[in-house]
Amino acid sequence: MFDFKSDPNLDPTERYRQLCEAADALTHDESDAVANMANVAALLWEFVPDLNWAGFYRVGTNAKGAPELVLGPFVGRPACIRIPIGVGVCGVAAKDATTQRVEDVHAFPGHIACDAASQSELVVPVIRDGAVVAVVDLDSPKTSRFSEEDAEGIEALAQLLSARI
Ligand code: SME
Repeated sequence: MFDFKSDPNLDPTERYRQLCEAADALTHDESDAVANMANVAALLWEFVPDLNWAGFYRVGTNAKGAPELVLGPFVGRPACIRIPIGVGVCGVAAKDATTQRVEDVHAFPGHIACDAASQSELVVPVIRDGAVVAVVDLDSPKTSRFSEEDAEGIEALAQLLSARI
């Protein structure tokens, strides 16, 4: 049994240090990408407060063979399965290979509402050999939930996972 627990009073820097440590322990010796993403989605849910969705979209292909985001392991309500590159918060993060920290999703052009409860969102690309291979997506029912420290913490996690998912 794994028993990773997070103290709700941790400051964000220590919270993400512990999250990355737990993610490293769970993934360093496992080559199955789905297993690793599933465990990290569970860790995100455990460690990051005030979320209603936490998980991954992977860069796959559509029926014409063009790149497209495809739903990966997550915790939360069932979500849209495929997202075109460049569309919505996830699609923009994948297209531009940049973190998207959105204070109010209703003000983001093209935002895709998978859960009506979502008010703010943080999406971080996972980059391998210079190409985006997935994004980490966090949704919160609170407006302006995600700080710059949250973005930096998830970017460190994305870097750690780069060769493991
Ligand atoms: N809101 C995202 C879609 C994914 S869900 O939040 C799980 C977006 O606009 O890309």
